[in-house]
Formats: sequence, C-alpha cells, structure tokens
Amino acid sequence: MKNVGILGLGHYLPQRRLTNADLEKIVDTSDDWIFTRTGIRERRLAGKEEKTSDLAIKAALEALKNAQIKAEDLDLIIVTTISPDSNFPSVACLVQKAIHAKKATAFDISAACSGFLFGVTTAKQFLQNGMYKNALVIAAEKITNLIDWNDRTTCVLFGDGAGACVLGPGNGDHAIISDYLHAQGQFGGLMSVQADEGEPLDKESNMLRKPYVVMQGKELFKIAVNSMAEAVEIAVEKAGLKLADIDCVVPHQANDRIISAVAKKLNLAKDKIFINIDKYGNMSAASIAVALYEAVEQKRIQKGHHVVLVTFGAGLVSAANVVRW
Ligand code: UT7
Repeated sequence: MKNVGILGLGHYLPQRRLTNADLEKIVDTSDDWIFTRTGIRERRLAGKEEKTSDLAIKAALEALKNAQIKAEDLDLIIVTTISPDSNFPSVACLVQKAIHAKKATAFDISAACSGFLFGVTTAKQFLQNGMYKNALVIAAEKITNLIDWNDRTTCVLFGDGAGACVLGPGNGDHAIISDYLHAQGQFGGLMSVQADEGEPLDKESNMLRKPYVVMQGKELFKIAVNSMAEAVEIAVEKAGLKLADIDCVVPHQANDRIISAVAKKLNLAKDKIFINIDKYGNMSAASIAVALYEAVEQKRIQKGHHVVLVTFGAGLVSAANVVRW
C-alpha cells in the first residue's frame, strides 16, 4: 500500500465580517448568549455575487501553490459542499475549468460538515490503489445562502469559507495513517434543508432564501459529542496509537461546548485541541479544512506530530483521520 500525505493546504475567507452585535440588529439575540452558548464572536459572509465555486477556486489555488503542483498535472478534483452554485454542473467541474486542470477528473461529495474528511478519505483510496498520483480536495460553503435570517436558533451559528488540500505520495514519515467514516441515516431528520411556500425570509434581496436549514440543536448536540468521541477513539486505535500519543486534535467547529464535552469524554487536555470557531462560526465542510490550515500556520501542528481530524454533521455522518505530520 502506498503512503498518501498532504502536500499543501489552502484556504479562503470572504472579507465581510458579521459580528454578534450585527446579529443583535437582525434577530432577538445577544452577544452574550451567542458567545457563552457557542463560542462564536463573528463569522464571514460571502458577497452577493460570490459563489461557492469562487471560494473553492481561491482555496484551491493557494493549496496548489503550497504543494508546488501545477493545475494541469492534477489527476483528481473533489469538492465537498452542501451549498453548490446549482444542482449541476458540479462545483468540482467549475473549479476544473477555472484552474485549467484539463487532465483531472472532477466530482462533488455531499456529506455536510463531515464533507472534507469524506473527500480526503475518498481521494486517498484512488491514490493508494495507484489509479491516480495526486488529488485536490476542496471544502467550500456559502452556507449562509441556506439560512433563515429570521430564525435565531440557526442564523447565529453559520458562516462562509473554503479550505483545500493537495494529496500525493507521503513525504518521509508523513502520511494519513488511519481513516474512519460513519453514517447514521436514522437521525437525518435532526438537521435538514426544508423548502416550503412561505413568506420571504428577509426584506434584503440576498437573504430571500428558500429552502433553508432547520435543526434540532439540543438533540444534535448530544449525538455530536458521542459520535465525535467515538470517531476519535476508533481512528486512533486503527492507527495503532493511544490517545496519549496525539499532539493535536482538529475538530469540526460547530460549538465550543461540543468540543469541550468531547475533550472531557476522552479525557483530553483542551490545549491539545485547535479551536477557531470564535472567528468563523460553523462553516460546515470548510470548518475543519480552515482549522487545519490555521493550526499548521500557527505551528500548533509540526513535523512528526500525530494529528486527529474529527468531524460530525447532518446526515448524520461522522468521520476521523489520523495524520502523522
Ligand atoms: O454542524 C453540525 C450540526 N450542528 C450542531 O451540531 C449544533 C448542535 N447544537 C448546538 O450547538 C446547540 O444546541 C445550540 C447552540 C444550537 C443551542 O444551544 P442550547 O444551549 O442547546 O440552547 P437551547 O436550544 O436549549 O435554547 C435555550 C434557550 C431557549 O429559550 P427558552 O426556551 O429556554 O426560553 C431558546 O429559545 O435559548 C433560546 N435561544 C436563543 N436566545 C438568544 C435559542 N437561540 C437563541 C439565540 N439568542 N440566538
């Protein structure tokens, strides 16, 4: 079996910041409620004209640059998103065209907040079995397009962004050393996108969105904690490691309290966990990709470290990977 590693990372965050104070003007909420219940201070909002593919392309170009791989040499492009520009063409094909990756094949994966790890693990199989030499995996979301801006229970949580990585032959000891993907379709009703014939959601034209996200937060919270803790344990065991061997955990950023509860359940020191939810909120698939980018940038992840990536999302789907950096 060939070792597969991460050759380069990229990210893109839209410029516009929406703070908790801004949200206080839109719905009946407060900075104090949002911060104490979620850990979020602000999130980014893509512009009216900015599409998911635009975010994806920017993250992709940075990842290619960092991996020192030319777009024309790419074999595979996978985009993970639940907020594509349209039902088709796939965002992956839009990226392929924009970056001139003529040789690559391209497709999208839908696994909500777990998308990035589903994408990485899928791409890894193609590389490991020798069908392709390299792959670009992008998680991109303009999820604020799917938000009901009258619903304070959801609109304070989400933000837009994109992250990307180029996968290829592992360099030295560096490799993705274990994978875990899991689905619990029986809980699909806890978070879904609903379409109905109601009133416009907001007077501002760019917020006129149907369908929109509906969520049973409390129920999701409990399953998220159990699923993520279980995913970490399984992926670490599959890697032949113990939790004490792990240097950094990069979790999906849905709620700081979920992350704390996972840390407590696993008896993990919270300072081993990378958290950036305060700046971006929940960017669905893009959260973990951007968090990984920043953890490396801030040197929280260094050569030789054992890193766990772990996530959970609508579906319900959860996933984890262990990477020897
Ligand atoms: O990405 C993966 C999918 N998503 C998740 O994993 C989300 C998981 N769930 C959560 O993160 C949390 O459940 C939430 C942040 C969504 C909610 O936090 P909570 O502590 O579970 O609050 P709650 O839903 O129990 O609501 C408590 C109170 C309610 O008022 P009453 O009934 O006690 O009077 C809500 O109406 O807080 C109220 N509330 C708010 N108040 C101010 C709900 N949203 C807001 C708000 N501002 N934005």
